[in-house]
Amino acid sequence: MAKRIFSGAQPTGNLHLGNYLGALRNWVALQHEYESFFCVVDLHAITIPQDPAGLAAKTHEVARLYLAAGIDPAVSTIFVQSDVKEHAELAWVLNCVVRIGELERMTQFKDKAKKQRENVSAGLLTYPALMAADILLYQTDLVPVGQDQKQHLELTRDLAERFNRDFGETFRVPNAFIPKVGAKIQALDDPSKKMSKSDENENGRISLMDDADTIRRKFKRAVTDSGADVRFDAARPAVTNLLSIYQLLTGQTPEQIEAHFAGKGYAQLKGDLADAAIAFLQPYQERVRSISDEELSRILREGADKARAIAAETLRQVKERMGIVGA
Ligand code: TYM
Repeated sequence: MAKRIFSGAQPTGNLHLGNYLGALRNWVALQHEYESFFCVVDLHAITIPQDPAGLAAKTHEVARLYLAAGIDPAVSTIFVQSDVKEHAELAWVLNCVVRIGELERMTQFKDKAKKQRENVSAGLLTYPALMAADILLYQTDLVPVGQDQKQHLELTRDLAERFNRDFGETFRVPNAFIPKVGAKIQALDDPSKKMSKSDENENGRISLMDDADTIRRKFKRAVTDSGADVRFDAARPAVTNLLSIYQLLTGQTPEQIEAHFAGKGYAQLKGDLADAAIAFLQPYQERVRSISDEELSRILREGADKARAIAAETLRQVKERMGIVGA
């Protein structure tokens, strides 16, 4: 059987350069080597309150962003999580396999719960069981994600192994694919935080749909470190973050980049970075706008049909092994 990839993004906030450079870009690169499934995970989005009209619109926008990034529906399966009911059903089963202690140890839960204060939904806690269901339903080999999903992937592996041990070999145990550069793009306004869709400060992220003026303004305002020369240096995280973005957008090596910026300052870096981002994002945004509603709904419908067939077979095996056979 061909090796499989599964990955997804939540339709919350605006997808940004971190999402593209840490994840989407690698999905595009890997899709020809693997049988690939890319999902818009709307059921994950509702673990925190969402405006219903906004969620519906974002779900379609994220699918457009996948297509415009270069995910080819002729070779990859693109679908919306809630169109394949097996995700929610396997998530329930895995909720009965995972331990509360494991869920409470997830750093992303702890961070998000802090922001929600007393209004933390049970879904926010059990979120990783749904994510494990997404991955395990497709007998996935590889999950290309950014660094922030590593812990969820480790839990997914633990749950697959536990289920296989307790009920017999059922799930393939997946591996994370985390890129060497770009796995953790930091916020432009604070290089100690990751670039995030949900941060209130818009200036921390370059959204994939930002216009040229906004991109220039945000890079201009980006925080830098003390010092003046432009080079990769772990002791100067803000400049190194900007340089990593530049590296990924231009495809140049760190040596070429340092030679290019030799004798130049931060203002030049910010200007050149804005140019590179605009040169990439303008045609990207044109592709996003060129996808018609009809084409999008056909792709998502066909994707869901393909995904459902595989997911249903995995779920059938799971239920059979557990003795869930109905009347
Ligand atoms: P989400 O929607 O937060 O992010 C989508 C992808 O973008 C990566 N990412 C980043 N990469 C580099 N730098 C950043 N600053 C940055 N911010 C985000 C994320 O690591 C992710 O790969 N739980 C997932 C969605 C999900 C999923 C799945 C992923 C649900 N089920 C199954 C893989 C497999 C999430 O919230 O991603």
